[in-house]
Amino acid sequence: MKTFIITGASKGLGSAIAKQCLRTGDRCILISRTIDPAFEVLASSSDSKLSFIPTDLKETEKLSSLVKGILTEVDEKSDLYFINNAGIIDPIKPIGNLGQECLESSMKVNFMAPIVLTDEFIKQTSDSDRKKVVVNISSGAAKNPYHGWAAYCSTKAGLEMFTRVAGLEQDKVPFPVCLISFSPGVMDTEMQGTIRSADEHDFVDRDKFQDYKEKGMLRSPELVASTLLQLLEGEDLENGKFYDIKDLL
Ligand SMILES: NC(=O)c1ccc[n+]([C@@H]2O[C@H](COP(=O)([O-])OP(=O)(O)OC[C@H]3O[C@@H](n4cnc5c(N)ncnc54)[C@H](OP(=O)(O)O)[C@@H]3O)[C@@H](O)[C@H]2O)c1
Repeated sequence: MKTFIITGASKGLGSAIAKQCLRTGDRCILISRTIDPAFEVLASSSDSKLSFIPTDLKETEKLSSLVKGILTEVDEKSDLYFINNAGIIDPIKPIGNLGQECLESSMKVNFMAPIVLTDEFIKQTSDSDRKKVVVNISSGAAKNPYHGWAAYCSTKAGLEMFTRVAGLEQDKVPFPVCLISFSPGVMDTEMQGTIRSADEHDFVDRDKFQDYKEKGMLRSPELVASTLLQLLEGEDLENGKFYDIKDLL
């Protein structure tokens, strides 16, 4: 049996992953501020395979008890997959215009929340001998600078390095967690809508992203979700590695 704990499961990639897992009978624990109405219908018509924990990931002080609560709920023998997927692109502005409040939101959702959740997950499962995987959803922006995306690029780069260090460390413990970064490429989600609606002075590449949409170059979150789940099926995941969807299709 598999249990998937997925942040940012109300929309986009997180929602697509959760729906595919539910279809194959896996247990899903969904974490976001809102819920996709389709899950509410599924939850009321299904058994206890689906839970939703309303959470604002900016409230990082609550995340340790969130992990504790989740782990008391899951089956002792179940394989555990923790997918840190929630992310925000804002603020899209050149440096000098970012503002502390927007910077803090970006740091908390994209970086602090996944690293606190991962730290707690590793701590609270360290004695547990079963398959344990953490997926940190990354981006090409972890590796490449984009004009106007300083907060997003920095948080994704930080999360990628955290994943590499954690992978290195976990390789040396008795019951390791396997941690990977997964870069999904450009997807047709709300996040891309936010990118296309940025002010062109704040984001000089805006037209390029409008072209991606118009020319049908954005991947569907469903295709990305199935590619990730196929990757997780394999037995040879490399701890700490950055997996790029472009190399998997
Ligand atoms: N879309 C792309 O082209 C693209 C490209 C590369 C990487 N990515 C990465 O892929 C992941 C998924 O992106 P997406 O495009 O599917 O995004 P999306 O459609 O905008 O969905 C973002 C998800 O994050 C959740 N979220 C945002 N702020 C939150 C908060 N404060 N607390 C809890 N949950 C929060 C949202 O849930 P609520 O609003 O309900 O809280 C939502 O479920 C992100 O990590 C993103 O950086 C996306």
